[in-house]
Amino acid sequence: MGIVDDDVRRVRDATDIVGLITEHTQLKKQGAQWMGLCPFHGEKSPSFSVNAEKGVYYCFGCQAKGDAIDFARETEGLDFAGSVEFLAGKVGITLRYTDRNEGRSRNRRKEHADHIGRAVDFYHERLLEDPTARSARDYLRSRGYDGDVARRFQIGWAPDEWSELSRHLRLKDDEWMATGLGGINKRGGQYDFFRARIVFPIFDAQGNAIGFGGRKLPDGEGPKYKNTSDTAEFYSKSEVLYGLHWAKGEAGRTDELVVCEGYTDVIGCHLAGIERAVATCGTALTPQHARTMGRFASRVVLAFDADGAGQAAAERVYAWEEEFGLRFAVAALPAGADPGDMAGNDPDGLRTAIEEARPFLEFRVDRELDRSDLDSAEGRALAATAAMRLVVEHPDALVRDQYVMRIADRCMVSANEVRRRAETPAGDPAARGRRVAVDGGGGPTTPGHLTPEHQALRLLVHRPDEVADHLASVLFDDPVNRDSYEALGTTRDLHAAMEQAGGAVGDLLARLAVDDASDDDPCGVVSRLLFLAAERAAVVLEAEARQAGDLATYQPSISFLRNWIMDLREAFTDFAEVEPLLRWLVNYSEERVDA
Ligand code: UTP
Ligand code: MN
Repeated sequence: MGIVDDDVRRVRDATDIVGLITEHTQLKKQGAQWMGLCPFHGEKSPSFSVNAEKGVYYCFGCQAKGDAIDFARETEGLDFAGSVEFLAGKVGITLRYTDRNEGRSRNRRKEHADHIGRAVDFYHERLLEDPTARSARDYLRSRGYDGDVARRFQIGWAPDEWSELSRHLRLKDDEWMATGLGGINKRGGQYDFFRARIVFPIFDAQGNAIGFGGRKLPDGEGPKYKNTSDTAEFYSKSEVLYGLHWAKGEAGRTDELVVCEGYTDVIGCHLAGIERAVATCGTALTPQHARTMGRFASRVVLAFDADGAGQAAAERVYAWEEEFGLRFAVAALPAGADPGDMAGNDPDGLRTAIEEARPFLEFRVDRELDRSDLDSAEGRALAATAAMRLVVEHPDALVRDQYVMRIADRCMVSANEVRRRAETPAGDPAARGRRVAVDGGGGPTTPGHLTPEHQALRLLVHRPDEVADHLASVLFDDPVNRDSYEALGTTRDLHAAMEQAGGAVGDLLARLAVDDASDDDPCGVVSRLLFLAAERAAVVLEAEARQAGDLATYQPSISFLRNWIMDLREAFTDFAEVEPLLRWLVNYSEERVDA
């Protein structure tokens, strides 16, 4: 992308890779190499090695490897050209571009960053020195921000004057306008945009200043916050994440970012020891934010106030998870509390809430169930329906199915009943348009999406030798599927089975017969069926135990099943391992038929 090859080489050669990397992790000389804790994954003993002479690094733990350009790319979240520019800036090499316009726009960006950087210094000095900033200093101190905090976050004070900053910067009109820090009045004079406000400088991921958020004092005028205007050339609120360049180190080590709503939340998180916190600047999360976050971490914890996070638009969250390789979780903050306040009055609570953040859907489902009346049959039915409405929004059938179980459990209804609820949500727009194909039951099947039961039957049709011994009727919950299984099992002949069974079974077998099972993983499919069958059996036994008021008799079986259910969250790879569960389930179903 546009940088002259020779310059790329010069930058690579001129960069001191050990110096670069020690900005992120400490290195110690060991023989010819330098060793340290890997900045790309969490570890306690060093497996990250750097060869200064060759200019490369390699991690024996996570296999991260590359040269200085790769390193900056990974740690700064840059593309190739951006990474070369970043390093060129450090070693003082002026880059040549293959395209003149590109070079020009890169230079403009640099100049712009210099202007904003000078504004940061100007405001910061005012806060620390200016007599008129006394009320600002008092206010900050009342919030627990002393001089060290002000310096650490380079907080500033924009004086209550019309043109202090513009007079200090002395930019040409077009440059001044491009900063987004002011305007030009009717008489052609430059005026400042931030007046009588505490200003929080905003940096890009590399630490270049790009704008400000300005907070009024408690008795000040106008909106609580004013932010750099979006007309600024290199500032766009739908992309900016406040605090990202402070957060990226810890984000890299923990693979997690915490997103808050405001500047003071980020600062609060830092003061509470959570250094992977960022905030949007006066806007809801956008796809650009999500994309940016994906470059630094794969897990994002939403630390908004409880209602805000729970209501984050679900469809968009799932779409971003898929598109940007992210997983979203929610920190359960007390109602009405934000991280900024909690950092002051309950830092332990804040840390715990963030550490115990739960997956987005889990948070939503639990919140729905928690606020429902689960003491009456009617209440539980309503709760199950409402919770399923949230579950059907999730695009992954395997994920949905786990929540079916969870809801069935807490609402004391069978998993199948919960599934049926999901299929007829009275006038629920979220469920419309998406076919509910929750796994396991008969349920509607879309082409290309087969339930595990159908996958098992398909395998039985096409690859009987591999699966026949590892299946049983009890693994099929849907009557048509069970009949199909039995028809195939008794005749061992597809055509005979189709003729003998006719009707729905015949249709299903015919459809599966023209399908392709060569990609199916027999052990994975059987594992899934066992998981679901164990879950059904456990729900039944738990319900019976409750009704009989006799947990002790049922407990061994329930524990046995629950242990298997835990283990089966991941597919087994060897049939022999799951054999005991299959035998147990077969026995169990025969006993029930006999009884
Ligand atoms: P909050 O009102 O929650 O403010 O707005 P805060 O961050 O907790 O600030 P303090 O602790 O009261 O000082 C959250 C964010 O929404 C944006 C700002 O980015 C703010 O940080 N906002 C808020 C605005 O852009 N304009 C406003 O008038 C208010
Ligand atoms: Mn707030």
